[in-house]
Amino acid sequence: MSCNGIRAGIVYASITGNTRELAEIIADGFRKHKIEPAFCHAGSFPAWQLGELDLLAVVTYTWGNGEIPSEMKPVYEAIASQAPKQLITGAAGSGDSFYPAYCGAVDKFRDLLFVHTQLAVTLKVELMPQESDRERCQRFTDILVNRCLASAAT
Ligand SMILES: Cc1cc2nc3c(=O)[nH]c(=O)nc-3n(C[C@H](O)[C@H](O)[C@H](O)COP(=O)(O)O)c2cc1C
Repeated sequence: MSCNGIRAGIVYASITGNTRELAEIIADGFRKHKIEPAFCHAGSFPAWQLGELDLLAVVTYTWGNGEIPSEMKPVYEAIASQAPKQLITGAAGSGDSFYPAYCGAVDKFRDLLFVHTQLAVTLKVELMPQESDRERCQRFTDILVNRCLASAAT
């Protein structure tokens, strides 16, 4: 929850820690707006809470050849079947540009969120977020929060 009433959530999956670090930086970005996000690993994602959020950041690594990791698949299914159309969303992730489908899972979530929600922003980070990525992460959260405030005003 937050002092400006925005209910934000972050759902993430991570094996070696890069994506978890990215999700934590995004969480800090929300805190700069005085928003305390619900922070949740994909394995314990409460799909029923989708209807109680104003905005959701999906933060994923990429597996296989541009694939969504298996622990994120229930999140994908839940969004496809239960996300309210007015939910404001962003897709972010860590990948490795060595692979042809760089951050392919981010692209797949982007396409899903575009169809089922109000997709506002995407972000791809190479492996572990660096100091130079922090500004990009802050922009990611700023865009989500500003979109949310704008839609509340209409
Ligand atoms: C078997 C395997 C397949 C991968 N496939 C891709 C891929 O297709 N595209 C990509 O951008 N990164 C790919 N990656 C890289 C990971 O997404 C990247 O290392 C990421 O930072 C891991 O996040 P984590 O530290 O949160 O687990 C792959 C990594 C492994 C081990």
